[in-house]
Amino acid sequence: MLHNAIETNGLSRTFGSLKAVNQITFSVDKGSIFGFLGPNGSGKTTTIRLLLGLLEPTSGSASVLGYDPIRDGQQIRENCGALLEHTGLYERLTAYDNLDFYGRVWRMPAADRKARIKELLEHIHLYDRRDEIVKGWSRGMKQKLAAARAMMHRPQLIFLDEPTAGLDPVASVAFRDDLLNLVEKNGVTVFLTTHNLAEAEKLCHRVGVIREGQLLSVGSPDELRHKQGNSQVEVIGSGFTETTLQQLQLHPQVRGVTVKGNHLTVQLNGDSDSAFLVPFLVTQDVQIDEVRKGKASLEEVFMTLMEEENVN
Ligand SMILES: Nc1ncnc2c1ncn2[C@@H]1O[C@H](COP(=O)(O)OP(=O)(O)OP(=O)(O)O)[C@@H](O)[C@H]1O
Ligand SMILES: [Mg+2]
Repeated sequence: MLHNAIETNGLSRTFGSLKAVNQITFSVDKGSIFGFLGPNGSGKTTTIRLLLGLLEPTSGSASVLGYDPIRDGQQIRENCGALLEHTGLYERLTAYDNLDFYGRVWRMPAADRKARIKELLEHIHLYDRRDEIVKGWSRGMKQKLAAARAMMHRPQLIFLDEPTAGLDPVASVAFRDDLLNLVEKNGVTVFLTTHNLAEAEKLCHRVGVIREGQLLSVGSPDELRHKQGNSQVEVIGSGFTETTLQQLQLHPQVRGVTVKGNHLTVQLNGDSDSAFLVPFLVTQDVQIDEVRKGKASLEEVFMTLMEEENVN
């Protein structure tokens, strides 16, 4: 019994002198949601293409559902659903016919196709519009339909490249709920990329952060926060003078300081103890109304990773 839906070992791909994917090693547990985070051009889509066997690695290896993408790309693509940068929809077909077409490609029996299309379209609240030509649909509607398409044949593993790009906040939340539902009910594994870190935080069991082709960190959002270790303290009050802020900034335990109105946020280095902060502010004649300690968000962890010394 395989425990990992995906495993890579030193997976690499170069384009000329560009190391688009550089020695990445990670694994994704079956039945989990894995988020792949990284700035534009960091190698996320290239990694997905390598895993689907659409692109040959320059070196290293991978296993997807136990198959080798170099040798068994066809089997991988049959057992996986994928929503890549292009939606893969036929603009001149209706929503229903788009899904029906894919159902035929996957050799699903007619009755099963019909039931599955109804189930998926109802789920994304587009069943009433099933007979409309997709061309006239909004970007978000197309995106939802494309995701449904990727799930049409009930794949065990789904790759979603920026699935919520272009969705409004309500639709994004609904999309996330659908995904979680799928994972919980059907044991589906999801590998997704996103630029929305709050989304990754809510949705993903584990995330990997990639920059310039290199995997910088892998773990649960909590583990990443812990590894990165930045905690922060928010002080609500008044009398934050320029001198106070400058002195705080120079403190060895302080990473960064920001003020917005009566809100002072102090980011600490590593697992620094914040005990010094309140006494210090008091000596500076700051009026303190409230102090809150908090964990850094995934976004802050991400920004810290991006700012760190160049990895090359
Ligand atoms: N077929 C190709 N030929 C040449 N260079 C390529 C090719 N595909 C990708 N690259 C390069 O590899 C790098 C990684 O691209 P990739 O599309 O994987 O980034 P990404 O992380 O998905 O970015 P984004 O967030 O913008 O989608 C980029 O510098 C890109 O120009
Ligand atoms: Mg991409």
